[in-house]
Amino acid sequence: MRAPQPFPADGLPANVTIYEVGPRDGLQNEAATVPTVVKAEFIRRLLDAGLRVVEATSFVSPKWVPQLADADELLAAIPRTEGVRYPVLVPNERGLDRALAAGVDEIAIFGSATETFARRNLNRTVDESVAMFAPVAARARDAGVPVRAYLSMCFGDPWEGPVAVGQVVDVGRRLLDLGCYELSLGDTIGTGTPGHVAALLEAFGAAGVGPDRLAVHFHDTYGQALANTVVALRCGVTVVDASAGGLGGCPYARSATGNLATEDLVWLLHGLGIVTGVDLDRLVATSAWMAEQLGRPTTSRVVQVLAGG
Ligand code: HMG
Ligand code: MG
Repeated sequence: MRAPQPFPADGLPANVTIYEVGPRDGLQNEAATVPTVVKAEFIRRLLDAGLRVVEATSFVSPKWVPQLADADELLAAIPRTEGVRYPVLVPNERGLDRALAAGVDEIAIFGSATETFARRNLNRTVDESVAMFAPVAARARDAGVPVRAYLSMCFGDPWEGPVAVGQVVDVGRRLLDLGCYELSLGDTIGTGTPGHVAALLEAFGAAGVGPDRLAVHFHDTYGQALANTVVALRCGVTVVDASAGGLGGCPYARSATGNLATEDLVWLLHGLGIVTGVDLDRLVATSAWMAEQLGRPTTSRVVQVLAGG
């Protein structure tokens, strides 16, 4: 079978926006730096497969993430197509200057629910990182560029252990209050489980942040990402981050492995009769091609089954 048999279920959205993070979250974590032309071809193939939101790269310090040091060149090399968004990560005003010069159409700031990860990933406390993001978000919005926010370590932290739901909601609201249109809840190390997802989304709702302003970003380290996604959809979330072929991780988070694989997500969503706009065969071919470029097999179960033909 090359597609699931659709069985719609009650209480789920009719459409889901897949926010593809493979070129950014995936390639930031590769030991070898992928050539710019290969990254551009990867993005072109993702568009061909029907994805319309593709996080392309990061305008971060090249000393911190050398894998994405070619962000400026990459932005110049990818096709600008009507209806396609290419968000990029931007931590500070230096990054924003570069991103605006490259003509980006959307940026994302990325905070942490925990102090330890804020220091390890941004060299700042949580307060200092929010202060760093404030002028970035304000200037981007003045320039007409929408701002998304990520919040990492929402479900557990490799150094601090469990993370209190209230702490996540507090920091998340502070990021949204900077003028971000959406907050993506990161399970950076993949320890979250369905009840935890429901509790967090309920707590955001109680704090006045509904599912229309939230997205989910699950790393699949413990194999919970699909189960967690179903719960998030039932709670009303309609934007799901995923990475083609399950690429991904964070170089500054111990035990972070790949993101939820986009192909596995598409199989689930199409099986539930949910429209994504993605052509699964083309996406599988893209991830099989990318695995060849990287010289290692994909972790996506769906790609493993379907790539053989
Ligand atoms: P710092 O060392 O405190 O910054 O790092 P600094 O201002 O002292 O700058 C250090 C050097 O970098 C200077 O160069 C700056 O000019 C340069 P030098 O003077 O030494 O030659 N620099 C830059 N160059 C280009 N573009 C820039 C830039 N900024 C500084 N934007 C900083 C602070 C925030 C810069 C650093 O910590 C950083 O870049 N961190 C990014 C780490 C990162 O990208 N992590 C992965 C993404 S987050 C993630 O994956 C999680 C997520 O997927 C969600 C989830 O799964 O939970 C989003
Ligand atoms: Mg991530």
